[in-house]
Amino acid sequence: MAEAGTDILKARMLLESGALVGIPTETVYGLAGNALNADAVAKIFEVKNRPQFDPLIIHVPNLQHVEQYVTTLPEKARLLAEAFWPGPLTLVLKKKAVIPDLVSAGLDTVGIRCPDHALTRALLEALNFPLAAPSANPFGYISPTSAKHVDSQLGDKIAYILDGGECRVGIESTIIGFEDSGPVIYRLGGLTLESIETLIGGVSLQPYSTSNPKSPGQLISHYAPARPLIVGDIEKLLLQHETQRVGIISFQRTYGDHPQIILSPAGSLNEAAKNLFAALRKMDGMNVDLILTELVPDTGLGRAINDRLKRASKEL
Ligand code: TXA
Ligand code: MG
Repeated sequence: MAEAGTDILKARMLLESGALVGIPTETVYGLAGNALNADAVAKIFEVKNRPQFDPLIIHVPNLQHVEQYVTTLPEKARLLAEAFWPGPLTLVLKKKAVIPDLVSAGLDTVGIRCPDHALTRALLEALNFPLAAPSANPFGYISPTSAKHVDSQLGDKIAYILDGGECRVGIESTIIGFEDSGPVIYRLGGLTLESIETLIGGVSLQPYSTSNPKSPGQLISHYAPARPLIVGDIEKLLLQHETQRVGIISFQRTYGDHPQIILSPAGSLNEAAKNLFAALRKMDGMNVDLILTELVPDTGLGRAINDRLKRASKEL
């Protein structure tokens, strides 16, 4: 078990010494290390068991800090950062050499975001380096939305977890890059497509490549529980799997007499996003053979929820 608490000074000292710390953000918890220290970055890959082709994003306290790490800031990127930072948005920008190649997995770009969580922002402001922080889960598993989730999987490998309570958004940041053809969303996430398009106009979506994933959050099997999970029409699925012990994760309603978690009885997509990963973890810990779940309305945060459900099911 790792010690958990709200001691920013302790987190700072550990990070300055090259150690890793679990940090809260509004999206999910991160496994943080000094992004400018290649040894600390290497430790992140090791602790997460993450393949080195999967680049990390870095976290900064505000937009002014970005300039040190990138060669150019496209106009649309600046507009987005001004409107939505701190918040669940990662900008993929051309990187300067100061960012170790290990962080960017050899790409000439780096993902950067300013998280919206008071503890982590205070920590970032106290540090003189950015934090590389992937979600604090073993590679491919469900992202953590509480300090307890982090502790349960990585607790014996990290020194400290900054405990900032449950994550407010509950789903990872939206990742956007700026290619010659225009802005491209590589991962749907906590900032909606609608909010982005209202500000900067049309963007393309490139979320499902597997052969050469720009963003391995795009790998088909990702965010996955250990138990098999099927997404579909729950009533039909129940009939097809009568002989198995099923657990159900539904959006709004109750289905029969099975272990079940309802993501949002009121039908709120924001609430469903906030509860999604905890629900998957909880169901994964129950004595069931199979998890049945259903898509939510494909609008706003619903798009990111549906993306995660499909990847959790390995059935894209
Ligand atoms: O909300 C979040 O983004 C959380 C919190 C902790 O900030 N972090 C997070 O990190 O989800 P991670 O590593 O689990 O997911 C980051 C995704 C990965 O799928 C990675 O492939 C992609 O960002 N990524 C990182 N750098 C990239 C780049 N230069 N170009 C394209 N995708 C990139
Ligand atoms: Mg992740």
